[in-house]
Amino acid sequence: MMSSDSVLPLPENPIIVGFGGVGVDFLAVVPSFPKPDSKIRTTEFTFQGGGNNGNTMTCAARLGLKPRIISKVSNDGPGKTMLEELEAEGVDTSFFVVSKEGTSPFSYVIVDNQTKTRTCIFTPGYPEMVPQDLPRANLLSALDGARMVYFDARMPDSALVIAQEAFHQNIPILIDAERPREGLNDLLSLADYVVCSENFPRAWTEASSIPRALVSIILRLPRLKFAIVTLGKDGCIMLERCVDDEGSHIEEMDVESCLTTLKERKDDSTAMPTCIASPVTKLRAKGIEESVCGRLYYGASEKIPPSELMDTTGAGDAFVGAVLYGTCNLFILPLHMLVGIF
Ligand SMILES: Nc1ncnc2c1ncn2[C@@H]1O[C@H](COP(=O)(O)OP(=O)(O)OP(=O)(O)O)[C@@H](O)[C@H]1O
Ligand SMILES: *[C@@H]1O[C@H](CO)[C@@H](O)[C@H](O)[C@H]1NC(C)=O
Repeated sequence: MMSSDSVLPLPENPIIVGFGGVGVDFLAVVPSFPKPDSKIRTTEFTFQGGGNNGNTMTCAARLGLKPRIISKVSNDGPGKTMLEELEAEGVDTSFFVVSKEGTSPFSYVIVDNQTKTRTCIFTPGYPEMVPQDLPRANLLSALDGARMVYFDARMPDSALVIAQEAFHQNIPILIDAERPREGLNDLLSLADYVVCSENFPRAWTEASSIPRALVSIILRLPRLKFAIVTLGKDGCIMLERCVDDEGSHIEEMDVESCLTTLKERKDDSTAMPTCIASPVTKLRAKGIEESVCGRLYYGASEKIPPSELMDTTGAGDAFVGAVLYGTCNLFILPLHMLVGIF
């Protein structure tokens, strides 16, 4: 999905910190999903690291960032495998909490090779991570020199302690919001950037469409600089807040029509991902009183032929890794040069 020659070189390698879920996947490909009480064989089997945070930080490392993970595993086989795999990818695992007892988080994943469905059975790690697992001195070392901090909204009590410290130190915070979860709102109120999955914006705001929900998110979270929603093969939409320094001179537009206009400008002749941006606009949404001064982006995904598409497990995590990479570059390059690589 990402070709290395299109990746912009970084003048330095920014340190980022990721907090959230890691795990191992026991991934079995079967000719078709088993019936209860039957015996079948795998046609392919892999045992590999996973979890949102693990995947996202691996992607970030491959793009040239220097990620550190804060998370918890046990001193068992899967736990050791995870740490080894992450280290081999260039992820710093020295801030992991390794429990002497218990089990590391793991998933059984059954891939049906006919229907291409993937059924996941997740077993959380035990004992669960608590804020006391991370002494303040370790937290401060983990955040030392960090350009950004990422959260996947797992283990909310510990996440909030880390986010509050990052906030206090003015380290930008990015949240990957998959679905409304316990403790997520506290994290969101400290966030600078949000990347969410397709259903999240409407679920969280109760707005009737994704573009309207994006306006609502930007209004509800006054610190937020942008919110991105990913739409699988349909790419992504981003709403970036802009400073309204021209007052009433900025044109007003309905956010739905704005998106329609962007989609009409999409170049269908290329298979490569493309990005189309609106001018700075006062975006209005039906049913919402206030408008947002911002720029709307439509990012079309790469057109991948079905024969080449294996499965999209972790696509969202890889996307967030690329957003972290792009956002770290924001200090160097303007946004419109970067969205193409998201
Ligand atoms: N079938 C596809 N073809 C092309 N690009 C895709 C496809 N599926 C995903 N992508 C790319 O990956 C990005 C994220 O995918 P998606 O919206 O499925 O994330 P997600 O729902 O968080 O995924 P998951 O939780 O399964 O990792 C999309 O914005 C798009 O750029
Ligand atoms: C999946 O099915 C295809 C088509 O029948 C076959 O060629 C391929 O080897 C199978 N792959 C696995 C891992 O089972």
